[in-house]
Amino acid sequence: MKIEDVKVIAVLGAGTMGHGIAQLAAMAGYKVYMRDIAQEFLDRGMDRIRWSLGKLVSKGRISKEEADRVLERITPTIDLKEAVEKADFVIEAIPEKIELKKQVFSEVDQYAPRHAILATNTSSLPITEIASATGRPEKVVGMHFFNPPQIMRLVEIIRGEKTSDETVRLTAELARRFGKEVVLVNKDVPGFIVNRILARLMNEACLTVERGEATVVEVDSAIKYKVGTPMGMMELADFSGVDVFYLVMKAMQARGFKIRVCRMFEELYEKGWYGIKAGRGFYQYKGEKYERAKIPKEAGEKVNPIPIFAPAINEAAWLVRTGVATVEDIDKAIELGLNFPKGVLKLADEWGIDTIVSVLREKVKKYGDEVYEPDPLLVEMVEKGRLGMKSGEGFYKYELEETVYETIKVRKEGPLAWVILNRPDKLNAVNLKMISELDEVIDKLSEDERVRVVILMGAGERAFSAGADISTFKDVTPLQMFKFSRMFQSVLSKLEDMPKPVIAAINGYALGGGLELAMACDLRYASEKALLGQPEIKLGIIPGAGGTQRLTRLVGPGKAKELIMFGNHITAAEAEKIGLVNKVLPSATFEAEVRRLASELAERPPIALMLAKYVIKYGYEAPLGPALNLEASKFGMLFSTEDAREGVDAFLRKRKARFKGR
Ligand code: COA
Repeated sequence: MKIEDVKVIAVLGAGTMGHGIAQLAAMAGYKVYMRDIAQEFLDRGMDRIRWSLGKLVSKGRISKEEADRVLERITPTIDLKEAVEKADFVIEAIPEKIELKKQVFSEVDQYAPRHAILATNTSSLPITEIASATGRPEKVVGMHFFNPPQIMRLVEIIRGEKTSDETVRLTAELARRFGKEVVLVNKDVPGFIVNRILARLMNEACLTVERGEATVVEVDSAIKYKVGTPMGMMELADFSGVDVFYLVMKAMQARGFKIRVCRMFEELYEKGWYGIKAGRGFYQYKGEKYERAKIPKEAGEKVNPIPIFAPAINEAAWLVRTGVATVEDIDKAIELGLNFPKGVLKLADEWGIDTIVSVLREKVKKYGDEVYEPDPLLVEMVEKGRLGMKSGEGFYKYELEETVYETIKVRKEGPLAWVILNRPDKLNAVNLKMISELDEVIDKLSEDERVRVVILMGAGERAFSAGADISTFKDVTPLQMFKFSRMFQSVLSKLEDMPKPVIAAINGYALGGGLELAMACDLRYASEKALLGQPEIKLGIIPGAGGTQRLTRLVGPGKAKELIMFGNHITAAEAEKIGLVNKVLPSATFEAEVRRLASELAERPPIALMLAKYVIKYGYEAPLGPALNLEASKFGMLFSTEDAREGVDAFLRKRKARFKGR
């Protein structure tokens, strides 16, 4: 059969999924029979289709006449034989009960033409077993739509043990004619792609709460705001029904999916606290009308999303290794099926495959649960140095360019440029060579339009930079040191004035000139173990590369005097408290977290970022009147950019803005 030969489609079931699929098929121009077991179900299904078409008409997406024609193409019937006897393609969307499905498939097999393909919209039952009830298992296939089918763009197509290539191909073509994007699931595994990965993620979010590591709101906030998902995981469970997810996880478990279902899911299920529809779930809902759970952005500050995502990434790796799905299809499924900004394998590449493996191993150690054992594919990737973005290859390939200088290294990862201070044996102490190399690199990166964000970090485990190289301080003249100071200062001023954001990733000691370097950056993220200070006083001198001035501007004269006069180190947490660093990040995943934040910044409009930076800096140095005037003029100037038009248009159309820096 060719796709052109498909003219008549039967949809079995007129419920939430059935009516939506029938509408899609009719909108794609097919003659549709929609069958349910009672007239009232059919009437309700037809009402819902009319309502949905009415909405499309009122939004101007289709005309009234088109809507009428779509309705005319749908014949509701309670007679199964009538529904399928002329059908070229049957899509079943009846309740998820295996015996019921088998019985219906065996009847359909009798009445439907020999050439007809029989697809099931099951989300949890084995295709192979459903197919076994028919005499044409090669023509039985999984066709998993997402709710609501009219809106969600994804369809998972699942191959049963005997499904033929032709059936798979034709089903994919049909789904595309319905306006859908398809992903192929090559083996009939419980949960297919989306539900397997979602189950891992949702369950781990819940387990993080169960173990007392964070609260529901904290975990949801971290996932929602740090990764950019449309909802937190427990918020999503409440939204779609705790019972739904609990039963899906149980069904998958019964089919051999290894998971220890979070106890909170079990408890909520038993109490009937199913989420929004019950007025209570992981969250409490007041009032009659639907209200979203309140999840403040700050709540998730301290929660690291990587360990919560790691089991989902591990699951995705399993799907790849066992040939169930391709890397591209897995990420596409997550992006379209869950509306995540990125698929989990792309996230894994960003965070680093080595990070994921070590996070998983830590979980095995901590919780003694073998389900966290890293998939052999991840382990192999680490062994072969395929660590993700930072190594140029992970699940995907990246343009990676590394330039090694004498004292620094520059690594470009797409829109990010990492400048690594590279004298780890000397705790990355700054010497003249490093200053002149930084000077050169700042010029190059300023001009490179592909680079949107620059990150400064220290090589090795111990230091960002322990300051100016003290070994060069012996036998020097005051004039030489005056010149050294001016040169260091002017490079730092140039760094501060770069036309793009610069992040200091303070991965260890930031002392003396090291801290001065970090203070010339726009943002400072410190690893938990970092120590910061201006210890020059202990050498009998004072800071000479802006330390007395930038520190004062950041923390005020009182704190600056304390730090400079005592010369002692402070911890990252103290530095955050006094406003010296923007954020403290966990040491174990420090680089990955910085990469994530930098990638987010790289998606912001470059010209607006540049002007924000300049207005803040130069406005701060000026009296308020001229400063406000400066702000107004840059604000006005931005309306000449394509990016401002793009940003406003994207907002109004509810789509993601793509800024080009024009
Ligand atoms: N200049 C030159 N070399 C430096 C340095 C600096 N600012 N900071 C550290 N190093 C070198 C050390 O001399 C040592 O080199 P070596 O192995 O050849 O002897 C190496 O880096 C490791 O440092 P070490 O002192 O052995 O490590 P530690 O753990 O005992 O102490 C610090 C770490 C950062 C507390 C200590 O090195 C220190 O106080 N450094 C000076 C910080 C400073 O005063 N900066 C301001 C300069 S104006």
